[in-house]
Amino acid sequence: MQILDGQMASQAIRDALKMEVAQLIAEGKKIPHLAAVLVGNHGASETYVGAKVKACAEIGYRSTLIRFEEDISENKLLNEIENLNNDPGVDGILVQLPLPKQVSDEKVINAIQVSKDVDGFHPISIGRMVQGQPSFIPATPHGIMLLLEHYKIDTRGMHAVVIGRSNIVGRPISILLSSNSQPGNCTVTICHSHTHNLKEICLQADLIVAALGKPEFLRADMVKEGVIIIDVGITRVPDPSKKSGFAIKGDVKFDEVSPKCSYITPVPRGVGPMTIAALMKNTLKACQENN
Ligand code: GUN
Repeated sequence: MQILDGQMASQAIRDALKMEVAQLIAEGKKIPHLAAVLVGNHGASETYVGAKVKACAEIGYRSTLIRFEEDISENKLLNEIENLNNDPGVDGILVQLPLPKQVSDEKVINAIQVSKDVDGFHPISIGRMVQGQPSFIPATPHGIMLLLEHYKIDTRGMHAVVIGRSNIVGRPISILLSSNSQPGNCTVTICHSHTHNLKEICLQADLIVAALGKPEFLRADMVKEGVIIIDVGITRVPDPSKKSGFAIKGDVKFDEVSPKCSYITPVPRGVGPMTIAALMKNTLKACQENN
């Protein structure tokens, strides 16, 4: 069993990006600038956006964090997106999800200029990705593909089972794994809350992406020997022994499942850091294409 160390792979990518920034500076070119929009005081969102801003600083990008109260109106947020679209200094725009209920995720995502859509959530970005055209790939699935690439895992011909069908992870990773690419070329099954025979399907999988958001859902009796496991779960569960009062749990019962795996991502230090690395790559791409 080999651990897929997302922290290490992410660091390698961020180190390479740091060198690209040094090159941009030497050539007198524009430094990438990410604008991150955070609404409310959602604990997990604070952590994720904080990590994204910190990664920008480490690599040498500019970043701007724009915060709004939970009760912001949809129009005000849409106006802010318009300002960021029109600001030539801003290369990438990221609106952290979830948004409060009075604001439509769909309207906000659709308002982001496609050339600045570093999260890759705009329907045009998704449409391009589905057709294999150049596009921004959503950060978490992009990070998973980068991790498989980093470890030179040949996924060709594998049966990949994706548990979860969210727009952010499940659907896009199913498209990428089925693409004619390396990594890719998998036969993909998408499972969700209405799937009848989930256990039987998982037992047939060579590769499982667990992205359903239920802590320790995937158990040893649901996987075959030699399986590759990508655990996308990051749920906070109460843990009085921790200073923060919570522990982070993946969607996989790691201690039980890992002995059966050929490769497995841990939580934390697995997919999470890869998401950041992928967003940073997208931000450099946006800067290069827009300037
Ligand atoms: N919420 C959960 N994952 C993500 C992500 O990758 N990007 C944004 N913007 N919000 C998220």
